[in-house]
Amino acid sequence: MLIAPSLLSCDFSVFRDEIIRVDNAGADIMHLDVMDGHFVPNLTFGAPVIKKLRLATKKPFDVHLMISEPHRYIGDFAAAGADIISFHTECDSDIDETLKLIEEKGVKPALAIKPGTAPEVVLPYLDRLYMVLVMTVEPGFGGQSFMPDMMAKVEFLRKEIKARGLSTLIEVDGGIAKDTIATAAKAGVDICVAGTAVFGAPDAKEAIDELRALCE
Ligand code: DX5
Ligand code: ZN
Repeated sequence: MLIAPSLLSCDFSVFRDEIIRVDNAGADIMHLDVMDGHFVPNLTFGAPVIKKLRLATKKPFDVHLMISEPHRYIGDFAAAGADIISFHTECDSDIDETLKLIEEKGVKPALAIKPGTAPEVVLPYLDRLYMVLVMTVEPGFGGQSFMPDMMAKVEFLRKEIKARGLSTLIEVDGGIAKDTIATAAKAGVDICVAGTAVFGAPDAKEAIDELRALCE
């Protein structure tokens, strides 16, 4: 299991140090939550912040766009150093066009689905996706409870990926903690985002090691 700490739960007054801290603690991927106060009722940070943070680590940057018009900003996030860009099927941008923009920039494309969205919506794009992000909470805030019902979507997607002979990764985001990560692992998840479980723990390395161990 790959563990992607969500920086949403870090101490933003020392953002760069927090990235270095979880890098040293063994994080596989850095999950960066971009919110526009429109697609979700919360605001975070954008491409200029990510560009500066890019210098702090070599670990992949997984940029999760919770914004209404992702197509307008793909160039900015690619230039800022995003390795993976995920955007929501529920956004106002054209999905095909937005995926094309990401592909043209040589960034790994991913589609994210909210809890109320059926997994079938990603099927027409599956062959082009590096990853599918299945939200296990309503996007917008850290610290919410994991929705186990979403594992049916993970199982459905896992089957489809296998049937098509693809290597598309499945990521879950929201409420991943010691008591929920094994459920995600069993359903066939490859990457677990964890905000509170990593940044709320006294020792990030212990927290990450323990989360990983619970998947074995
Ligand atoms: C929520 C974000 C998540 C969030 C997860 O909209 O996409 O990445 O930070 O936080 P936890 O792990 O605390 O649920
Ligand atoms: Zn996220």
